[in-house]
Amino acid sequence: MSGFFEKQAARSRKLIATTVGDEHLQPDSLTPLQAELDALGTTGDSGRAPSIAPPGSPPFGPVVRFDRVSIAFSGRPVLEEVSFSVERGQTLCILGRSGVGKSVSLRMMMGFLRPDSGSIAIEGRELASLDEEGLRALRKRVTMVFQNGALFDSMSVRENVAFPLRERGGLDDEQIDRLADQLIALVGAEDVAEALPASLSTGRKRAVAMARALAAQPEVVLYDEPTTMVDPLIARRLGGLIARLKQQLGFTSIVVTHDTRIARQLADTVLFLHEGRALFFGPLPEFLAAKDAEIQRFLRLDAYRLPMKNPGHAS
Ligand SMILES: Nc1ncnc2c1ncn2[C@@H]1O[C@H](COP(=O)(O)OP(=O)(O)O)[C@@H](O)[C@H]1O
Ligand SMILES: [Mg+2]
Repeated sequence: MSGFFEKQAARSRKLIATTVGDEHLQPDSLTPLQAELDALGTTGDSGRAPSIAPPGSPPFGPVVRFDRVSIAFSGRPVLEEVSFSVERGQTLCILGRSGVGKSVSLRMMMGFLRPDSGSIAIEGRELASLDEEGLRALRKRVTMVFQNGALFDSMSVRENVAFPLRERGGLDDEQIDRLADQLIALVGAEDVAEALPASLSTGRKRAVAMARALAAQPEVVLYDEPTTMVDPLIARRLGGLIARLKQQLGFTSIVVTHDTRIARQLADTVLFLHEGRALFFGPLPEFLAAKDAEIQRFLRLDAYRLPMKNPGHAS
């Protein structure tokens, strides 16, 4: 047995059960999914969307690298010479107030926006060098979980999750249904598999959007404000789900948020954007201990928020 699900299997067994909405996630729900994917030969790098790394590139470079990236809109600078990188399997949280260019950074990573100057490389490949076909390949490697879920309205939850499995080809209907059901179980949405997205709560939609993103078997999962517009309890559960998917499945994750609690829960590294600049880029503990006045102000905002409910006491 080989593949990217394998090395996380041992870890998956000692997972904390976590919940989204009011459904309990099964602590070992990954195991059947993994066995299934292995049986289908869909694990390992061959199972993931093909790497866009140029042939012969070193295997352990950063998955995402921004090098002095600048972008302005109508002459107004949004990012100025921003540099950072994300290693494989790590979670970067991009923090900063509204309007500092967090979403713009994600859109540049997917090649939807091009920087005015500087370079962006995914798996060592410079995005500026990609043609349309290259960008399509990129967007299979790097997928976004949108705030509103961006689910197809006319399709059931199961059909939404099955969609990327169908797209990748090579699976029959029965295999697709089985894998979709396992992904749905992984995010604790079994009870709504037949439902249309419109009938789901915001938190549920995001959990289903995560299952659909995973079905595409990307290398990098981008989350744009995954915990806004849901109550603190659901926010914490979604945070727990992101952490669990990262630990079990080894995805490289980039989480844009203005919520430092989510950053504390998830981040290996932090990029703090302020007035167009990367005011901080480095490991989470260093960020939390940073002396910079702006960072301290940002972290203190936490103190003015309502404390999080204890998930153990949730109904
Ligand atoms: N396509 C665009 N055209 C013009 N201005 C844009 C565009 N996209 C983003 N902006 C501006 O860039 C700034 C940063 O936006 P954004 O990255 O969405 O902020 P946030 O950090 O809140 O996600 C904002 O002032 C926004 O109005
Ligand atoms: Mg944004």
